[in-house]
Amino acid sequence: MPGINDDFIEEVRSRNDIVDVVSGYIKLTRRGSNYFGLCPFHGEKTASFSVSPGKQMFYCFGCGKGGNVFNFVMEYENFTFMESVAHLAERVGMEMPEVRYDEKAKKEADLKSRILEVNKDAANYFYMQLKGQNGDIARRYFEKRQLTEETIKKFGLGYSLQYSDDLYKYLKNKGYSDDILRESGLCLFDEKRGGHDKFWNRVMFPILDVSGHVIGFGGRVMGDATPKYMNSPETKVFDKSRNLYGLNIARQSRRGNIILCEGYMDVIAMHQAGFTNAAASLGTALTSGHARLLSRYVKEVLLCYDSDNAGVKAAFRAVPILKEAGISAKVINMKPYKDPDEFIKNLGKEEFEKRISEAENSFLFEISTIANGYDLNDPKGKTDFLGEAAKKLTGFTDEIERNNYIDTVAHRYNTDAGALRRKVNEIGLERGIVAENAPIRMQRQKSIKPKEGFDKSQNLLLTWLVEDRNLYDKVKKYIRPEDFEGELYIRVATLLYEQMEEGNPNPAKIVTGFTEDENQAKVAEMFNGAVFDDMSVSEREKALKETIIKMKQKAIEKMSREAGALDVGGLTRIIAEKKALQELEKLVI
Ligand code: UTP
Ligand code: MN
Repeated sequence: MPGINDDFIEEVRSRNDIVDVVSGYIKLTRRGSNYFGLCPFHGEKTASFSVSPGKQMFYCFGCGKGGNVFNFVMEYENFTFMESVAHLAERVGMEMPEVRYDEKAKKEADLKSRILEVNKDAANYFYMQLKGQNGDIARRYFEKRQLTEETIKKFGLGYSLQYSDDLYKYLKNKGYSDDILRESGLCLFDEKRGGHDKFWNRVMFPILDVSGHVIGFGGRVMGDATPKYMNSPETKVFDKSRNLYGLNIARQSRRGNIILCEGYMDVIAMHQAGFTNAAASLGTALTSGHARLLSRYVKEVLLCYDSDNAGVKAAFRAVPILKEAGISAKVINMKPYKDPDEFIKNLGKEEFEKRISEAENSFLFEISTIANGYDLNDPKGKTDFLGEAAKKLTGFTDEIERNNYIDTVAHRYNTDAGALRRKVNEIGLERGIVAENAPIRMQRQKSIKPKEGFDKSQNLLLTWLVEDRNLYDKVKKYIRPEDFEGELYIRVATLLYEQMEEGNPNPAKIVTGFTEDENQAKVAEMFNGAVFDDMSVSEREKALKETIIKMKQKAIEKMSREAGALDVGGLTRIIAEKKALQELEKLVI
């Protein structure tokens, strides 16, 4: 890790007991030697999220997320690795040593902070131009849009002049190099014109991250020209899929939820009307990165997308993404207006407040959207609609919840609840998701495939080695780290064997050594093959022996494949291994 040394990181890790830390976020219940709770990383109703005090790791059998205490905090708080180290260090009163970055990381960090500086200077420049003598046209535009001085200041709105290189000149004068200006996305270069500006003759919306850094810009034409908005390209500091416009302010709002809308102007209009919990994605669909970011601040999001078809569709798509991050969604109806900006201008904030309180839960919103497609006064239309609604209702896996929705829909659309319930069950049966007279049970939505074959055996063995120290002495004679299959397994096994030799198995530390998220999750999975608690002694012995034999056979096969016919050394080794295998088959573990 750059700067901070591994010993420090390991000390932070070991002083933050994972059960304590996780308990600060979710409720855990002890079962056997592990703790279980509802997974905070995917929506679930039965606890498949486990925390092992022995291994100091967590693992969700539902969604496959896992890792040590750092990974948990990173995932939950949306922190980088270093942020999670700093957070946990502070939690136990340890002081972070001064960061000495390695060369590459230092360069990267320097570049980022340099781009942020450029952006900040540019934002100031645009603001100055708006206020300056050439800013008339932009000031009038904002006036027409009914933005107050205070709002303009709060959002740092600005104006890029008609000239196509004045910002470039201004920034060059401040001493920035062409390279950094190119990296910022604010200036473009070509042979004919040299350096020039990306934005000109547009009103400017600086985009801030949650900590208040200017990470990019949106620029709007003041008339009807296209494109209406231009935005900064993705840069080292600007990732559209992980930032939301206005969230730097909205996250501090005490309203308890966030209103998510589509555009810059929507956010600004809402804040001006007192709805300071409004934010918007940056011209892209909502991503799971956005959802996780939001989940740091709220458990509920009010979707306030445009009321046209595209907006309705976008709302539908956002709901499951939010749900996955543990956020429930409601939908604000803005009809007959297109967007919140128009709505507030026409009906005012009191009416908007009303619409907030009437916001429909996302399921009922979907049902009423479906209802719009049918003529409910026509018996056939109504029957068809209820058929569609019944299909949707089969989606609730919890019987009580499903029945509540059936009752509500039946009541709202004037039909008999019993008949609707029978219809729902009938459809559920056809689809094979419900047994007769039994509650509907659907497969878990995003459950990972159970590990197939050999990886499963390897996971079992690694898991058991950690859980039962005596086992290691027996196993190491037969299975060496190289006998594992796959580079990642060999690396992990090598590290674990080293720790075992030192008498101190520490899988959570092994996880820290892998820098990529993906590998960390895989390693976490390796140490969560199955929990011994659930098995009887004889079951456990049988499974273990089978596993070891399977691994040994695999290792011999691999050796045979690799050894050429004339490789005497290789053949001798294979014979020895086969003998070991025979011994193993007789062994009582
Ligand atoms: P809208 O067209 O709804 O814009 O696009 P708006 O924010 O409501 O602005 P006004 O009221 O028409 O002035 C919604 C969002 O989609 C992105 C922008 O982020 C915009 O705020 N967008 C839109 C673009 O990036 N480029 C475009 O050309 C249009
Ligand atoms: Mn709009």
